[in-house]
Amino acid sequence: MKDSQSNQMILVLASTNEGKINEFRQFLSHFELTLQAQPKGVFVDETGQTFAENARLKALSVAKVTGHCSLADDSGLCVEALNGEPGVRSARYALNDEARINRLLSELDGHLNRRAFFSAAICVASPSGEVLIEVEGHCDGVIADSPRGINGFGYDPIFEVGSTGLTFAEMEIGQKRLLGHRGRAFALLEPRLKKIL
Ligand code: IMP
Repeated sequence: MKDSQSNQMILVLASTNEGKINEFRQFLSHFELTLQAQPKGVFVDETGQTFAENARLKALSVAKVTGHCSLADDSGLCVEALNGEPGVRSARYALNDEARINRLLSELDGHLNRRAFFSAAICVASPSGEVLIEVEGHCDGVIADSPRGINGFGYDPIFEVGSTGLTFAEMEIGQKRLLGHRGRAFALLEPRLKKIL
């Protein structure tokens, strides 16, 4: 459905996280879209086994409730030596960022293989229950021995990106956006979004 004032398509961003909504707005700023935040009181249970499944669940539910197309993402960190954990449980791995980092470092204690990747799945769905776009971006790296850097959020201080030798938390926002999983997912999304607008 279109916004009656701007005549632009309305896209509801399926998230209640302010930081994420702002990031979505920046990534989508050059599109002729009227972006709306998810209405308060909408809760979607993230029961999927993969990032893509969870993004789809969120986008379909929010599109159905609002009657507008919706964009959702789901992301997390997968560590090779921990069989892909924390994966889709990244946000629920411990009570706060510091505890999540400490838990991950202690689980990895003694492991020589510190390879890991971040993944971000994005889904755009229609109110009639159609999945319009699905993309997934990855970023390979290793888990550092201890936290470094002050930027970013979540696991950023312990995720060192391949050739850069820097953790996400040591990078400027522009560099993280270029190399990071969400930036890569949005780069894949852009041409496909253009086609449906
Ligand atoms: P969700 O996508 O909001 O369900 O949660 C993803 C969780 O994965 C976050 O709470 C963070 O713990 C972690 N995560 C996802 N993307 C990043 C990132 O770019 N940096 C650090 N942590 C991230």
